[in-house]
Amino acid sequence: MTPRRPGLSTLSIHGLPHRRADWTPVVGPVFQSSTFVNPVGSSEEVLYTRYGNNPNQVDLARKYALLEGAEAAVFLSSGMGATALAHLAVLRPGDHLLASEWIYGGTRRLFDDELGRFGIEVSYVDPTQHRLWRKSVRKSTRAIFIETPTNPTLRIIDLAPIAQVTKEFGLALLVDATFASPINLRPIEHGADVVITSATKYLNGHSDVIAGAVAGSASFIEEVTRLMRLWGQSIDPHAAWLVERGLRTLAVRMERHNANGLAVARWAEAQAEFAAVHYPGLPAHPEHAYAREALQGFGGMVGLQLKGGVRAAERFLKKLKMIAHAPSLAGVESLISEPRLTSHKGLTAEERTRIGIPDGFLRLSCGIEDAADIIGDLEQALGR
Ligand SMILES: Cc1ncc(COP(=O)(O)O)c(C=O)c1O
Repeated sequence: MTPRRPGLSTLSIHGLPHRRADWTPVVGPVFQSSTFVNPVGSSEEVLYTRYGNNPNQVDLARKYALLEGAEAAVFLSSGMGATALAHLAVLRPGDHLLASEWIYGGTRRLFDDELGRFGIEVSYVDPTQHRLWRKSVRKSTRAIFIETPTNPTLRIIDLAPIAQVTKEFGLALLVDATFASPINLRPIEHGADVVITSATKYLNGHSDVIAGAVAGSASFIEEVTRLMRLWGQSIDPHAAWLVERGLRTLAVRMERHNANGLAVARWAEAQAEFAAVHYPGLPAHPEHAYAREALQGFGGMVGLQLKGGVRAAERFLKKLKMIAHAPSLAGVESLISEPRLTSHKGLTAEERTRIGIPDGFLRLSCGIEDAADIIGDLEQALGR
């Protein structure tokens, strides 16, 4: 009988469970050291924190790879660092990247403003138009990039038909699943080759660290690590220790984020003040049926559109008491932001409208407070 694979809660606490030696600490230390004593005359790889081989960096990466079901992973000093290096690891001058047009604004700026400087062309596709993927592949296409769930519109992209195209043409499929966390979605199970995540969000979960990660095959992660050593984005050991501490409660935090997201979305849907509520757990969501199949939870992110646009949105934001008006997401505390001024500020109003983010759109990150208190704060801000 093959031994049962530990569940995601167990993996996020222990990695692969093992017996601890007597007198060793239950919680490992922070190796806050840039360098390590290396044996004289040894040709072994030197231990140096910029190389990503500090024990805090190695242990965290191993655990995250297990959660994603990947051969290997590496942590970087931000989610943007992870996105940048994952793409530089597959793309060369003259290559073409095909990307979903529903992506985080920072990623869009990286593609539009930076990749071109390396001779890499990027074009965009509406990710729900499956036939467009195949049609848009060029001779020079090397990779497809998808974000799911999408920031901030919460659309859920079916990866299977896109993975069929990447397999057929020998392309790499890179997926940013930051909004799901590996508890709700593991893209490799759906045909992705590479998973990118902003560990700043759910993995850490406490709004006190900036970090990112890439997971994939051992050879791909070796190449990302090589680039990381040269471009210099390794994660600081203390940040790695904090992310690992956050990971230990990831599964239970996600249970509450999922429950609160659903409760808030159901409540908001019934309020006349909202023109639209975007949440994959609502039956009215365009991918609700697929989301029920593919996700283990619908997440804590909810998109809200008040009747009355920007002015109504600003009035509402000023009245909130507990929910902080702040960019970023996925921490234990509820946060709300306006993508037009934060995550998607770099896009024009027309570009934002085309991808479903009209001015006045609010992105709510439900924390793990009591659902009644999140709803109570929203309710009083509506003027009840
Ligand atoms: C989906 C997504 N990917 C990547 C990033 C970038 O992450 P970081 O801020 O850790 O660089 C963000 C940040 O908001 C994001 O929302």
